[in-house]
Amino acid sequence: ERVIKIGLLGLGTVGRGVYRILQENQESIEKRAGVKLEVKKILVKSLGKDRGIVIPEGVLTTDLADITSDPEINIVVEVLGGIHPTLDYVLEALNQGKSVVTANKDMVAEHGQRLFAAAQKNNCDLLFEASVAGGIPIIRTLKQSLAGNHIEEVFGIINGTTNYMLTKMTQDGSDFQEVLQEAQAKGYAEADPTADVGGHDAARKIAILASIAFNSRIPLHQVYTEGITKITADDIAYANELGYVIKLLGIAKERQEGVEVRVHPTFIPKNHPLAAVGDVFNAVFVRGNAVGDTMFYGKGAGELPTASAVVADIMDAARDIIRDVPGIIGCTCFEEKPVLDIGE
Ligand code: HSE
Repeated sequence: ERVIKIGLLGLGTVGRGVYRILQENQESIEKRAGVKLEVKKILVKSLGKDRGIVIPEGVLTTDLADITSDPEINIVVEVLGGIHPTLDYVLEALNQGKSVVTANKDMVAEHGQRLFAAAQKNNCDLLFEASVAGGIPIIRTLKQSLAGNHIEEVFGIINGTTNYMLTKMTQDGSDFQEVLQEAQAKGYAEADPTADVGGHDAARKIAILASIAFNSRIPLHQVYTEGITKITADDIAYANELGYVIKLLGIAKERQEGVEVRVHPTFIPKNHPLAAVGDVFNAVFVRGNAVGDTMFYGKGAGELPTASAVVADIMDAARDIIRDVPGIIGCTCFEEKPVLDIGE
């Protein structure tokens, strides 16, 4: 039986989750994928560090070439985060003919075109389900399950940290700094949490969703972005009195004149399904011209939810490799469409 070998770039929160799921659910994963999967190498910064997980001898390496130059490794899984040097690592893997699975929304939102072009040129898969809304299968849904629709709008709660914070501030009247520290301690927040509270994390995610939903290229600087740093306990109390909760939403709509993409705190009526999305949960609405309204709900951050999406992508990449069909077919993310300027 064929074994597909995997190189993992990074063994942080998500990397550990991926390794754990592949071990704990090995039997069912291999049955469903129709192939055996083995993590052959893991790129880490230092070999000595205690990571709270047992990794067999010889698997950890500090040398990228042990992964990208190993002809036995077919799939590279990038869970390092950041753009430099990660982008170079991923391009190197694609140029070596390896399919890539990534959880990196920053890299996909900012350099998606380059990455898609490299994947297309080398006939490799480039899969990034985990980059948006953690465990919610929203990328695959837009690309495949709803592919027959003309997507009219996509919007929702796509940053777990700020949703956790706004939920706590609403429920217990907690202080902004205190809840931010809690979210960081739980491993939800970005390394630099200003990306969360400033709305930039959500902006990257809605740019990715919009580009897939509308078959277009959405430059990040064209996403109107406002975070939650100005939200006070008074705003929340005021909203509450009027029958609303405040949620940070990513919103993308296609209009005749062009595409509108924005992130900002929004008043949501308390009886709206999004109002009930608490804690670190995310929820995404999609309206298609055939299907109508759909909504997807789940954990948008954290070790196992994010790793769940990564593992599904690994399985898809493995299936494509054994069928000898990896590659990007019909990727339309290169098309330019006007992005409407939304002022302050
Ligand atoms: N910081 C992100 C969030 C992590 O809170 O949603 C998942 O992308």
